[in-house]
Amino acid sequence: MKRVPIAIFLALAVLAATCAAGGAEEIGKAEQRRLFRDGARLWPVYCAQCHNARPGSEFAPYQWDAIMMHMRTQANLPARDARAVLEYLKAGR
Ligand code: HEC
Repeated sequence: MKRVPIAIFLALAVLAATCAAGGAEEIGKAEQRRLFRDGARLWPVYCAQCHNARPGSEFAPYQWDAIMMHMRTQANLPARDARAVLEYLKAGR
């Protein structure tokens, strides 16, 4: 009889872990979509001030990481805007 509560506990623990993981992923994707949308809007504003706005397809995602380290200071980008523009550029559009 002692085994039943343990089995129920384990089942609930697994269920809770699964729900938590699924929920976190949902928020992640929604946030990613939001960043992409904001980035698409902000990229031509910030990144065309000094040169033509360079399209995401011109560089690989790892290159955009490095380029944005430099260009976010050039464009004086707030952190969230920099993440949004980076998300947009890394999508390679
Ligand atoms: C204040 C002016 C300024 C702004 C704003 C600016 N850049 Fe630049 N960018 C430069 C200059 C100057 C260079 C070339 C010399 C250098 O690398 O500093 C350059 C070079 C580049 C290059 C060329 C790298 C290569 O090897 O061909 C890319 C890509 C780039 N910028 C992307 C961006 C992006 C993306 C943004 C928007 C977040 C941006 N830039 C905003 C001034 C700017």
